[in-house]
Amino acid sequence: MSAPTVLLTGAGGVVGQSLLREPADVRLIAAARGPIDAGRAVRTVHCDLTRDRFGLDAGTYRALAAEVDVVIHSAGLTEWGLPAERYEPVNIEGTRRVAEFAETAGAAVHFMSTAFVAALLPGAAAPLPDTNITAPYVRSKLTAEQLLAKSGVPHTVFRPTNLIGDSRTGWTSRGQVVQLLSDWMCRGRAPFILAHPGNRTDIVPQDLLSKAVLRAIEQGVDEGEFWVTYGPEAMDMETTLAVCAEHAASLGRTLPQVPVVHPDSERGRDLSGLTPLARSYLSVLRDVSEVTMASGGVLPTSLPELRARFGLPDVRDTDAYLRTLRYASAPPEGN
Ligand SMILES: NC(=O)c1ccc[n+]([C@@H]2O[C@H](COP(=O)([O-])OP(=O)(O)OC[C@H]3O[C@@H](n4cnc5c(N)ncnc54)[C@H](OP(=O)(O)O)[C@@H]3O)[C@@H](O)[C@H]2O)c1
Repeated sequence: MSAPTVLLTGAGGVVGQSLLREPADVRLIAAARGPIDAGRAVRTVHCDLTRDRFGLDAGTYRALAAEVDVVIHSAGLTEWGLPAERYEPVNIEGTRRVAEFAETAGAAVHFMSTAFVAALLPGAAAPLPDTNITAPYVRSKLTAEQLLAKSGVPHTVFRPTNLIGDSRTGWTSRGQVVQLLSDWMCRGRAPFILAHPGNRTDIVPQDLLSKAVLRAIEQGVDEGEFWVTYGPEAMDMETTLAVCAEHAASLGRTLPQVPVVHPDSERGRDLSGLTPLARSYLSVLRDVSEVTMASGGVLPTSLPELRARFGLPDVRDTDAYLRTLRYASAPPEGN
């Protein structure tokens, strides 16, 4: 059987760029709004999820549907802190257009959702307050999951936690929230850390997600929900801070011991005496801790299944985190 032709939406994003670098027996078409590094893709195609037929003319859309066997739907509005109506056209209506396309193509969809939907599923450990910076984004992802489920299109849902760099090199096409916050912590700028007791720091190297998705496609998998998280294997806050201290030491810095403060304590609530940057980073830490706690503190995980079915390598999160920190501090030349 010939390699399936896979349309990858969001090809210019962090996940898209990782997927485009991961070897696999698939023929990738990279869909993006503008010029991107197409990596291993055979070609790029224009795709704006907010426009009918992705903004393509009818003939091009039909020809694309005739060519595509599988869709990886990775495009989305991923920035936190925007009002719900900003996510709707991209994350919800855009997913509806992807489902329509997949139906026309007779293709299965692999949807990149988020592990934080655990905070909204029945049985969530605590309600997720509307004030949480991630809430409108996470709701839009859950609505998109539900829309796919109702569409009848064969599909899988991958639910990654916050992603970090490649497990082998720390590489990423763009630093994200983990790199930003970690850099601040590793410079000794955090006056304290806000986290609920018992929460795990669940961060996953991006290539583990890419490998899982691509192996699923190679195996013809077209159903299932996969939590791409470390779950109970994820590091605790003490270990997270120890990895930061190790990285800082390698750069000749000695990190002060910082207290881990409960976000609901008086000190955790009142950030008014701090610099604007510290206030903003601490409030992100508080909201990430809150959504993690609402998701159970220890996120659900499919890692044992992903290792067994898709051969994911046994990577320790602490090793991958250290590589990510090193890459973010000093990316090798040419990257
Ligand atoms: N990275 C993570 O830590 C993480 C964690 C959990 C879940 N996820 C999920 O994984 C998926 C990929 O995440 P990511 O980190 O790769 O996000 P990202 O870096 O923000 O990339 C998102 C991609 O979506 C594209 N996009 C946005 N609006 C679009 C539109 N109207 N039409 C077509 N494309 C559009 C962007 O294109 P432009 O470059 O043109 O803006 C970009 O390429 C997302 O759906 C996210 O919810 C990511």
